[in-house]
Amino acid sequence: MTIEIVNHTDQPVEIRNFDKNRYLDTAQMDAEWRNIWGRSWLLAGLVSDLQQPGDFFVFDMGREQFLITRTRNSGIQGFYNVCQHRGNRLVTAERGHADNFRCAYHAWTYNVDGELAIVPYEERFAQGVPCAERSLKPVATEVWAGFVFICMDPEPIPLQTYLGPVVQMLEPYRFAHMTLVEDQTVHLQCNWKAVVDNFSELYHVDFLHPQHKRMVDCCNDTVHLFEHGHTGLAVPGATVNPRFPVPEQPTDIQTAQLLSLGLDPDDFRGRVMDIRRAVQERKREIGKARGMHYDGLDDAQLSDVWQYNLFPNVIFSFTPEHLWILRPRPDASDPARCQFDKISLVMFADPELAEESSEILGPGRDAVSVDGFIPADYRRPRRDVFNYDAVIAGEKTMTDTIDQDVELLGGVQAGMASAAFDTTWLNDDEMRIQHFHNEWERLMAEGEAGGGGG
Ligand code: FES
Ligand SMILES: [Fe+2]
Repeated sequence: MTIEIVNHTDQPVEIRNFDKNRYLDTAQMDAEWRNIWGRSWLLAGLVSDLQQPGDFFVFDMGREQFLITRTRNSGIQGFYNVCQHRGNRLVTAERGHADNFRCAYHAWTYNVDGELAIVPYEERFAQGVPCAERSLKPVATEVWAGFVFICMDPEPIPLQTYLGPVVQMLEPYRFAHMTLVEDQTVHLQCNWKAVVDNFSELYHVDFLHPQHKRMVDCCNDTVHLFEHGHTGLAVPGATVNPRFPVPEQPTDIQTAQLLSLGLDPDDFRGRVMDIRRAVQERKREIGKARGMHYDGLDDAQLSDVWQYNLFPNVIFSFTPEHLWILRPRPDASDPARCQFDKISLVMFADPELAEESSEILGPGRDAVSVDGFIPADYRRPRRDVFNYDAVIAGEKTMTDTIDQDVELLGGVQAGMASAAFDTTWLNDDEMRIQHFHNEWERLMAEGEAGGGGG
């Protein structure tokens, strides 16, 4: 049982532990706004929500809101969602299509490129209205892999430089070709970093998610550490956790997986540890006929679950057939609260490639179940927003696994606030947490040394 750590940086990796105040303190939250959120590339949303010029969505980020639009020349541009007359929040809809954006207060109207176009009774402004100066304030915007990123730093490093080798490593998964199937947001009573920490280690999995022993091997994983605080993880899938007795029969998850690939689970009685390899070979064999582009993926990727965390707050959990984007966003003012998004995408079969309609070849873990090609009546799912107590009451679910995490995180925040707790005490399995916090500390120190920014 080994955890392999691949360090892509020139910094040594060592556990240092850290003070709890970064989860609790409002002064640190303010500094974080300048030094972390103000300088990092942030995943704002999906390019698929911006098909036509005039399509837009609003991205809520702590104390700010951003309006992201498909412009008239078909570019994608983000703006601060604030009217330049007297500061009203301009767009109130979460997403949609607009010919222009008209402020509800005094009807100042901006085109989809953010330019101020109409000012009622313009002659009554004695000083005039310099439209170019009073246009919407843009924010740096870039697109990668079907995702829109923004950065509040007016002179950011290019997004691909920021992401570094992660870009190439994730390329074969073709995220831009996946389709949104579920969009959820839960309000949590914890700091956003407690969510990132939670999705940065497997130490808790045997205890909080015992059901995972039926599908993944959490004790032989590979950890990657990258520049700029990003981390990655590869966990063997289509297998069982060897820390527990190996079952005689394939587990329910393995059975579903074998059946979806046209394999007979009975053939694997007494051979459960052979299933991972069989899944890889079978996917290679039938993938193309089932409309899947597996050519760029190696055998391990065909069976395994990867989880990549993009600093600061994006967690991608994925297989070749599905992707969860997990994204905690800070509250506007309370360090003990955050909003946590779970955005689920699926790779439907490519009709250009597929010889037959087929079910999704996914690992069948807790992915949303969908079959075949993109349905003709596909409509973008509405975003479902709820409070964590609805999850605890069983009224809402984000899958068993995430529900277990969500139910726990309020307790972590409450416990951290206790007088009896001072610092974390991390182990080697929690190296990704340390790496994330190293970058967090570096940016915080650099920002404060530089006078704290604007
Ligand atoms: S605040 Fe928007 S038009 Fe007055
Ligand atoms: Fe978890």
